Amino acid sequence: MKAIVVRDEAAGTAGMTLVERPEPSAAINDVIVEIHASGFVPTEMEWPSTWTDRRDRDRTPSIPGHELSGVVTALGYGTKGVSVGQRVFGLADWYRDGTLAEYVAIEARNLAPLPGDVEFTVGASLPISGLTAWQGLFDHGRLQAGQSVLAHGAAGAVGTMVTQLAREAGAYVIGTGHAADRNKALDFGAQEFVDLDNDALEDVGGVDLVFDVIGGDIQKRSASLIRAGGTLVTIVGPPEARPPDGVAVDFVVESDRAQLCEIVQRVRDGRLRTNIGNVATLDDAVAALNPTERRTGKPIIRIRP
Ligand SMILES: NC(=O)c1ccc[n+]([C@@H]2O[C@H](COP(=O)([O-])OP(=O)(O)OC[C@H]3O[C@@H](n4cnc5c(N)ncnc54)[C@H](OP(=O)(O)O)[C@@H]3O)[C@@H](O)[C@H]2O)c1
Repeated sequence: MKAIVVRDEAAGTAGMTLVERPEPSAAINDVIVEIHASGFVPTEMEWPSTWTDRRDRDRTPSIPGHELSGVVTALGYGTKGVSVGQRVFGLADWYRDGTLAEYVAIEARNLAPLPGDVEFTVGASLPISGLTAWQGLFDHGRLQAGQSVLAHGAAGAVGTMVTQLAREAGAYVIGTGHAADRNKALDFGAQEFVDLDNDALEDVGGVDLVFDVIGGDIQKRSASLIRAGGTLVTIVGPPEARPPDGVAVDFVVESDRAQLCEIVQRVRDGRLRTNIGNVATLDDAVAALNPTERRTGKPIIRIRP
């Protein structure tokens, strides 16, 4: 099969090459999926799991990409919950070969059914950004209607999901980003926007939940804005700051079939819009994943036309 591989951590996405690889085989509880579309998170080259296995041994050449949509072609021993020919989407294991390939072996529990009226490109854009927003807001942030959310990077892949899900849950959303992100953030439902390069973050006043996708100084300044009992949720590593009278939580997104179903149902009935950026073929993926211009939206590789 055709696949993108990486071998050189220092080279990052520039080190991606399109090669021939053996098709994966299905282990216990595995599913083989013929991939139709793959999502990519630009920071994947910084994740240790791209380079080493769970015992910290070199696992290169590795296939990046951890979001997929496609069709089930085979089941491993004991696999239940999905069937051959079914359309699926989901989140691939961080430590296994990923989804920038024609086929992937993935545990059934990491997949959910992709309804027939949802395009593969859309399905592949949802797992990481949708689940991260859902888990950050509801599982870790315990968001309640009437609370306020400071959604950093509100025009980004995760940020647009955070904004929409928080609004739907009855929260007041203040989005942030660069000046060029203002219209997009407001379009996705933010009620206010803070240009982090030119506005004073501190003018926001108190908020109940900060959803941090940036870290560093922005995270530290945001923590001090959190009201008593509020939460800093960060997805960029261990918290560097804590709210004076609240909690700080960091987490890595987990696969969850029920949540994937909730997310895709919202897309079907128009409550949730995806934020898809550049879409390219697998043959053009290396160039597409090394853009010369600023990214806007999640990059998707369309593996099959
Ligand atoms: N822990 C987890 O489970 C998890 C899950 C998903 C993602 N992540 C991480 O979360 C981060 C965001 O992911 P994503 O897919 O949403 O990325 P993305 O689509 O690039 O969105 C991030 C947004 O924030 C903006 N931004 C970043 N730093 C900024 C700054 N200093 N000032 C103003 N705007 C800033 C970016 O704009 P510019 O790019 O133009 O600066 C972009 O619009 C990544 O680091 C990713 O690895 C973690």
